[in-house]
Amino acid sequence: MLQVFGPKSKSKHGNPLWMLSMPKEAFFSVKFGMLEGCQIAVFSPDGQAPVSSTDKPISSPVEGMEFTPPRRLRTDEIPEIVDDFRIAARNAIEAGFDGVEIHGAHGYLIDQFMKDQVNDRTDQYGGSLENRCRFSLEIVEAIVNEIGSDKVGIRLSPHVNYMESGDSDPEALGLYMVKSLNKYSIAYCHMVEPRMKIGAENTKFSESLQPMRKAFNNTFMVAGGYDREEGNKAIEENRGDLVAYGRLFLANPDLPRRFELDAPLNDYNRETFYTHDPVVGYTDYPFLEDTA
Ligand SMILES: Cc1cc2nc3c(=O)[nH]c(=O)nc-3n(C[C@H](O)[C@H](O)[C@H](O)COP(=O)(O)O)c2cc1C
Repeated sequence: MLQVFGPKSKSKHGNPLWMLSMPKEAFFSVKFGMLEGCQIAVFSPDGQAPVSSTDKPISSPVEGMEFTPPRRLRTDEIPEIVDDFRIAARNAIEAGFDGVEIHGAHGYLIDQFMKDQVNDRTDQYGGSLENRCRFSLEIVEAIVNEIGSDKVGIRLSPHVNYMESGDSDPEALGLYMVKSLNKYSIAYCHMVEPRMKIGAENTKFSESLQPMRKAFNNTFMVAGGYDREEGNKAIEENRGDLVAYGRLFLANPDLPRRFELDAPLNDYNRETFYTHDPVVGYTDYPFLEDTA
């Protein structure tokens, strides 16, 4: 997993477009989205407030972190943001990526529009499910028109509530999104398991991604808490077409090979997950030969 923050990845509003690329055997896509409402102004030029669907700040700050209250985007500013995504997609293709993954998950800007716990707008981008999903679907449409539907994927986490970005009816939200996405014939939908909900690690879950998996017409990717065995089981049981790995891939640069050989895995180190060091915690985990 490689995170890229570059000068090309700035929106017109000066906010960084966070790009996360995932190494894959055949298809290399770049994931981008805007980490807005829960950001600190120091990342924005001139200390501007991060933009969001709302101007409500996060109510219970994360320990050791202070977030600048967001600025609610005006309705007339939204087309510019949609266009930023279109330009970013074009840039990604020109830079040589095979495709892009739109980041509509985990409390990023798109997620903040979709979730009713955050979005308190009264314009055509707030209120009903259709209105809350309008922003994300406008972005999908703009990118599909720009680079072609076969190069576009999207990441969604309807059940997850990171950074207080939760929804009162995640299944309705997930279903509305996948059914709407069917119209654009995008390459894939990547969805995060309900078990990734904060504080739910040890809870038995009645919620599942299966309704969305069944309703989506194209490749469905699942993520969140998978290991080799559970991933293989998910594919065998047709719960998804692809399984994405986060922490295990971070700690094992040769994860596909290790899975193939059923070799032991390096443990990940939580302490170095979000370091600012370009190497420590990112590219310093050993390959299989180095550990033998
Ligand atoms: C260091 C680190 C950075 C991450 N950054 C992001 C991110 O920017 N956006 C996102 O949606 N998920 C991010 N995640 C979450 C992963 O993409 C993945 O959904 C999560 O780790 C659950 O999958 P896993 O159980 O296979 O690790 C990050 C995870 C880690 C460990």
